[in-house]
Amino acid sequence: MKTINKLLLSVAVAGICGTAVAKPVESDNEAWKAKFPNQYNSWATTAETGEVVDLLADDPNLVVLWAGYGFSKDYNRARGHYYAVTDVIQTLRTGGPMGDTDGPMPAACWSCKSPDVARMYEEVGEGAFNDKKFGAWGHEMGNAIGCADCHETGTPKLTLSRPYAERALEKVDMPFAEQSRSMKAAQTCAQCHVEYYFDKTDHNNVRFPWENGFTAEGAEQYFDSIGFADWTHKISKAPMLKAQHPEFETWATSVHAEMDVTCIDCHMPKVTNDQGRKFSQHNVGNVMRDNYEAVCASCHGDDKAEMEALIKSNKEAVNTEKLKAEEIIVRAHFEAGAAWDAGANEEEMKQALTHIRHAQWRWDFAIASHGVHVHNPSEALRLLASAQELGLKAQAELKKVLDKYGVAQPVAIPNIATKEAAQQVVGWDKAKLDAEKAEFIEERVKKEWKTDLR
Ligand code: HEC
Ligand code: HEC
Ligand code: HEC
Ligand code: HEC
Repeated sequence: MKTINKLLLSVAVAGICGTAVAKPVESDNEAWKAKFPNQYNSWATTAETGEVVDLLADDPNLVVLWAGYGFSKDYNRARGHYYAVTDVIQTLRTGGPMGDTDGPMPAACWSCKSPDVARMYEEVGEGAFNDKKFGAWGHEMGNAIGCADCHETGTPKLTLSRPYAERALEKVDMPFAEQSRSMKAAQTCAQCHVEYYFDKTDHNNVRFPWENGFTAEGAEQYFDSIGFADWTHKISKAPMLKAQHPEFETWATSVHAEMDVTCIDCHMPKVTNDQGRKFSQHNVGNVMRDNYEAVCASCHGDDKAEMEALIKSNKEAVNTEKLKAEEIIVRAHFEAGAAWDAGANEEEMKQALTHIRHAQWRWDFAIASHGVHVHNPSEALRLLASAQELGLKAQAELKKVLDKYGVAQPVAIPNIATKEAAQQVVGWDKAKLDAEKAEFIEERVKKEWKTDLR
């Protein structure tokens, strides 16, 4: 019976001319459930991480640091994979595109949200997908991050469903096909948990800036060399870089990576079900709640409370240095704003703005990497120290300009004590943004798109 099935399958896959024809990508997670119930059920519990935490309200400095850029409109803590599509639709960053060609965001914003992206790459091609705007594809995006993002359709076999990740890993001499089983598994996470940008010279395709390796400085040199900026800062007019969640990069330079302890070991360990069958636990969240005994204890001993205390103190240490860096860089933005207002010219401002760009990039690379206080706290602290130093250099340059134009110092910092106050200072019309989003959800998403909002 088994042989016959295999035969039938190989005929089906081989196609008419005997050349291999890939099966169409099955993006519907439900379709995998009957065959792989353990993996499906544990994947479905990523819905447990559903709490919405508003990070701009927690730390209004962020509104100023990202002034002029979407992240200062709205930025919440990452939720479980189950919410990925809902969250990208609902965030104010993606606006209210009522038509297929409306902005603000390009189609590539879907890249790390849904296995339907893998399906569409196959149906229309990566470049043709990314040539369009975010709003053009909503009706195709019905499934949150799931099976076909990491597996060949209908099988447990791991795959990179995102060709841009494959290209990037080849660039750093880590081609997927040649990796160990554990590194292949970690690379499935690296399709999304990385720093990236959209390459305007290549269909707005996703690209990882790994030309100079995985460090913040390497990426900074790369972005400088191609004259890239994500946006121009609203107050200081500095050409800014936004770091996205570089988990793979900060992990790759850590002690755990050196010891071949990967994302999968900690986030997806093998567990045993009621019938005694082993399977990989597919709820990637809640490492400390679920996995300490099975994963960490062999190296760190069985005192879980001690580890929790260490993680907490690492987190506090990172947070303290983060806030110090923010205070310095926020001040530099306002000082630069005051210098422009006083009549400074581009030549006089150039050095200070470059320092601001680099300071904020290093700060962002450290703090945008979720879980960095476990993954690589020493790297986070190193980057934050460097961000503080560069921020102070920016202030020193700005002092020369402010002195030259006779500007009274210290430059006054407006009230940025709350998210609302800070958003007024940087000029967002929050009521208008909310209204646009509400109309888009009611008139377009609920009527035309497949997603049930969660
Ligand atoms: C983010 C990536 C990712 C997603 C999403 C994902 N898997 Fe997995 N899956 C893995 C990794 C990594 C392994 C472990 C592979 C190994 O140990 O070599 C794995 C293992 C498996 C295995 C092999 C047996 C086992 O449990 O180790 C099956 C079957 C499987 N997954 C099915 C599914 C199904 C069904 C879904 C969707 C409901 C899914 N996976 C979603 C990454 C993923
Ligand atoms: C297709 C892109 C994609 C892949 C592949 C992916 N993630 Fe995610 N991950 C996301 C996005 C997007 C979010 C945030 C979702 C939200 O906030 O709605 C997220 C959130 C998370 C979170 C925080 C939420 C929680 O449940 O605690 C963890 C942890 C996580 N991912 C770990 C992993 C690991 C480990 C892997 C590899 C096995 C992986 N992810 C693979 C895109 C991805
Ligand atoms: C040594 C074990 C370990 C390794 C290796 C590891 N992680 Fe984590 N990770 C954790 C722990 C523990 C946390 C939770 C920290 C906390 O609760 O404060 C975490 C947190 C996270 C978060 C943030 C979740 C949140 O709630 O905000 C993400 C995302 C994440 N890890 C992804 C990854 C990815 C992707 C990799 C591989 C590139 C990886 N991790 C490697 C242990 C690990
Ligand atoms: C294969 C062994 C191994 C496993 C498994 C392992 N670790 Fe580690 N971990 C190490 C080593 C070695 C170090 C570096 C020496 C040290 O600080 O103890 C380390 C360091 C750490 C640090 C401190 C990093 C710093 O610089 O402050 C944390 C936090 C940590 N591990 C958490 C975890 C957690 C949580 C797990 C399980 C989810 C885990 N580790 C699993 C070996 C391991």
